[in-house]
Amino acid sequence: MAQGLGFFLALLSLLGPGSGTVGGQTFASSSVPTLAQHKHLTTVPLEETSVATSWARGSTVSQPFSNFTGSVNDHGICQCSVSLPDTTFPVVRVERLEFTAQILSQKFEKELSKVKEYVHLISVYEKRLLNLTVRVEIMEKNSISYTELDFELIKIEVKEMEKLIIRLKESFVGSTEIVDQLEVEIRNMTLLVQKLETLDKNNVLVIRREILALKKKLEECEASKNEHTPLVPPRPAPGSCNHGGVVNISRPSVVQLNWRGFSYKYGAWGRDYSPEQPNKTLYWVAPLETSGQTLQYYRLYNTLDNLLLYTQVRESLIRYGQGSGTTVYNNNMYVNWYNSRNIARVNLSTNTVAVTRQLPDAAYNNRFSYANVAWQDMDFAVDEHGLWVVYATEASTGNIVISLLNDTSLVVLNTWVTKQYKPSVSSTFMVCGVLYATRTLNTRSEEIFYYYDTNTRKEGNLAILMPKMQERVQSINYHPFDQKLYVYNDGYLLNYDLFFQKESK
Ligand SMILES: *[C@@H]1O[C@H](CO)[C@@H](O)[C@H](O)[C@H]1NC(C)=O
Ligand SMILES: *[C@@H]1O[C@H](CO)[C@@H](O)[C@H](O)[C@H]1NC(C)=O
Ligand SMILES: *[C@@H]1O[C@H](CO)[C@@H](O)[C@H](O)[C@H]1NC(C)=O
Ligand SMILES: *[C@@H]1O[C@H](CO)[C@@H](O)[C@H](O)[C@H]1NC(C)=O
Ligand SMILES: *[C@@H]1O[C@H](CO)[C@@H](O)[C@H](O)[C@H]1NC(C)=O
Ligand SMILES: *[C@@H]1O[C@H](CO)[C@@H](O)[C@H](O)[C@H]1NC(C)=O
Ligand SMILES: *[C@@H]1O[C@H](CO)[C@@H](O)[C@H](O)[C@H]1NC(C)=O
Repeated sequence: MAQGLGFFLALLSLLGPGSGTVGGQTFASSSVPTLAQHKHLTTVPLEETSVATSWARGSTVSQPFSNFTGSVNDHGICQCSVSLPDTTFPVVRVERLEFTAQILSQKFEKELSKVKEYVHLISVYEKRLLNLTVRVEIMEKNSISYTELDFELIKIEVKEMEKLIIRLKESFVGSTEIVDQLEVEIRNMTLLVQKLETLDKNNVLVIRREILALKKKLEECEASKNEHTPLVPPRPAPGSCNHGGVVNISRPSVVQLNWRGFSYKYGAWGRDYSPEQPNKTLYWVAPLETSGQTLQYYRLYNTLDNLLLYTQVRESLIRYGQGSGTTVYNNNMYVNWYNSRNIARVNLSTNTVAVTRQLPDAAYNNRFSYANVAWQDMDFAVDEHGLWVVYATEASTGNIVISLLNDTSLVVLNTWVTKQYKPSVSSTFMVCGVLYATRTLNTRSEEIFYYYDTNTRKEGNLAILMPKMQERVQSINYHPFDQKLYVYNDGYLLNYDLFFQKESK
C-alpha cells in the first residue's frame, strides 16, 4: 500500500513544470501528459486508476474529484488543477494504523507468553495444592504433631522428677551430696529438653533413655534413704506369685499419647504376655473410636522403642470390638464383640477372628459397665494364671463376676461371684488370681480399694493411693513379667510399678 502510494507521488512530480501537491491542494501543470506518462499511470493500483483515467480524459469536474478543473489558456497550453481530498488516501493514518498494528501484535505476543507462563504456574500450584491436601489429610488423621507431643510428655516427666527431688531433699536432713548432684542433672535435663525441642523426634528416644537412667538413680537414692527402715521389699521373680499381694504402687510414668490423638479418650494398651516366652516385647495400643464404643484400629510394636518412635508399626483393622476391656495374651487379642454377648479371639499374626463364643449370662451393651467408662461390660485380664474375664450378670445383680477362660477355645473354666457392684468401680486388674478394683477419689487420684482372691474366695478392702495424669481411667492391664500396670488415662498411655508384700499371707 505505502509503496504504491509513494510511486503515485513520484508520478505526479514527473508531470514537469507547474505546481502540484496532493492532500487537498491544487497543482497545475503546463504540459500535456504524454503517452509514456499514460502508461505509467495505468500501472497504479486500482483506487488510483480512476484518478488517472479521469485525468487522462481531460474532462472537467468529475467524481470523485470535485475540485478537478482543466482549461486551455491563450497560448494553447493545457492547464489543469486537481485537489485530492484527504479521504481518498489516508497515508498518515494507514501508516499510523500499521504502526499500531505492529505494536498491538507485539503486545499480544507478550500477553500470550504470559498466559503460557500462567498456565505452567497453575499446574505447578495445582500439584502443590494436591501435596498439601495429602499432607493435611495425614495430619488430620494423626491430629497431632508427634514431635511436639513427645516433648510435652518429656517435660511432664522431668517436672515430676523435679517434684520428687524437692521432696527427697526435704526428707534428707544430713548429707545431701547425691541429692544435690541429682538436682543439677535434672536441671540440666530441663535445659536439654528445651534445646532439643527444635530438633527432630529421634532425640526423644535419647532423652527418654537419659530420663530412665535418672529415674533409676532417683529410685536408688530413695531406697538408700529407707535403708534402715526397708519399706520397699525386693521384687519377686518375674512371673512368680511368691508374694503376699499388692501393697503399693509407684507414681505413673507417661509413656505417650495414643497414636490417634487427644480426642481418642477411650481405649486400652499393654504388653503381650506369653508364658512360653515371658520376656517377649510385643506392645499393643487399641484406642476406640471417639464415640467410646467400637474398637476398629489397633497397632502393634515389636519393641518399646518402636512404640516411642512410632516406627515399624503394624496397624490392623477389626470389625468390631466393643469397649475398652481388650487384652492381649499369647499373641491373641481378646475382645467383646460389637453389640453382642460374644467374646472373640483375634490371632494377631493374621488379624483374623479365630474363635467367637458367647459368654454365658454376661450382661452386655452398656448394662453394667464401669464408673466413668461406657461399653465396658466385659473386661479381659491376664495374670500369672492365664486369661480372665471380668463382667456382671443379671443373676449377680450387677456385682462383679470373674471367670477363668481357656485362652484357646474361650470356654469358661471356672467362675467366682463377688459382693462388689461393678458399676461402682472405675476399673479392675488381676494379679496371681487376685482381682483388684479401683475407685475414683478425685480428678488426681484413684484408689485400689477392693480385692477378691479367687484362690481363697476371700474379699476385702485396701487403701492404696494411685495417682493419675488425667481425670478418668479407661482401662488397666497387668503384665506378669515386668509386674507393671498399663493404664489408658484419657488417651495417655501410663505405666505403674507394683510393689508386693514379702510373705505369703
Ligand atoms: C475545493 O477546493 C477549495 C479550495 O481549494 C475548497 O475550499 C473546497 O472545499 C473544495 N471543494 C470540494 C468539494 O472539495
Ligand atoms: C510433598 O512435597 C514434599 C517436598 O516438597 C515431599 O517431600 C513430599 O513427598 C510430597 N508429598 C506428597 C504426598 O507428594
Ligand atoms: C550440667 O551442665 C553443665 C553445662 O551445661 C555441665 O558443666 C555440668 O557438668 C552438667 N552437670 C551434670 C551433672 O551433668
Ligand atoms: C507408696 O508409694 C508411694 C510412692 O511411691 C509413697 O509415697 C508411699 O509412701 C507408699 N506407701 C506405702 C504405704 O508404702
Ligand atoms: C528371653 O529369654 C530367653 C531365655 O528365657 C533368652 O534366651 C532371650 O535372649 C531373652 N530375650 C530377650 C529379648 O531378653
Ligand atoms: C495364628 O495364626 C498363625 C498363622 O496362621 C498360626 O501359625 C498360629 O499358630 C496362630 N496362633 C494361634 C495362637 O492360634
Ligand atoms: C483349651 O482348649 C483346647 C482346645 O479346645 C484344648 O486342647 C485344651 O486342652 C484346653 N485347655 C484347658 C486347660 O482346658
